[in-house]
Amino acid sequence: MDTDVDGLVASGSPSADPLHTLADHMSAFEEDLEEILISDREIQGKVADLGEQITRDYARRDLLLVGVLKGAFVLMADLSRHIGLPMEFDFMAVSSYGAATQTSGVVRILKDLDHEIMGRDVLLVEDIVDSGLTLSYLLKNLRTRKPASLEVCALMQKTGAQQVPLDIRYRGFEIPPVFVVGYGLDYGERFRNLPFVATLRPEVYRDAVS
Ligand code: IMP
Ligand code: MG
Repeated sequence: MDTDVDGLVASGSPSADPLHTLADHMSAFEEDLEEILISDREIQGKVADLGEQITRDYARRDLLLVGVLKGAFVLMADLSRHIGLPMEFDFMAVSSYGAATQTSGVVRILKDLDHEIMGRDVLLVEDIVDSGLTLSYLLKNLRTRKPASLEVCALMQKTGAQQVPLDIRYRGFEIPPVFVVGYGLDYGERFRNLPFVATLRPEVYRDAVS
């Protein structure tokens, strides 16, 4: 058992795998989840790779990471700690109207950026690209503000679901066009804190509709 300088007992030994330990606590979600599509380990490995690429590409540039709330908050936190460069952060909050598990393409800005982006190297961080309509709207909006560059980092993209052409410079995973939760993504604001990405059992949607 480890003790720190104040004599407090640490909850685990340094060699314990925190992700594994966390998985043991996931039983509370078991009745809602169908299948784990991307494990926490796979995500962490990919996020580290993306961070390294970004570090190489943005050396000596004026990097501003812009997270799209709420879904991207988990990726922002992990990704940014794999980027070994001075940088700044900003966030936008958007909501798209439409059915609970589908976007309509009509995007409303709930919170705009705090800072001007003119002349800056903006990297937009998104959780997932489905139809691409949200991202397409955001890119169009941000381009009018004349950043020096504007690129996208998205953890996931759904195969064959895209309705508009998009250039996603940094993409983590391609997944089937199914609704997923976890690692920032929600269903009815729940499940964002799962360290992995999973599909939901059909009953979860059915219960929500009735
Ligand atoms: P798009 O406009 O169709 O590309 O949808 C993008 C937005 O819809 C994302 O930023 C997510 O907030 C949300 N979204 C799309 N697919 C999923 C999903 O499978 N689970 C949770 N949210 C999703
Ligand atoms: Mg959402």
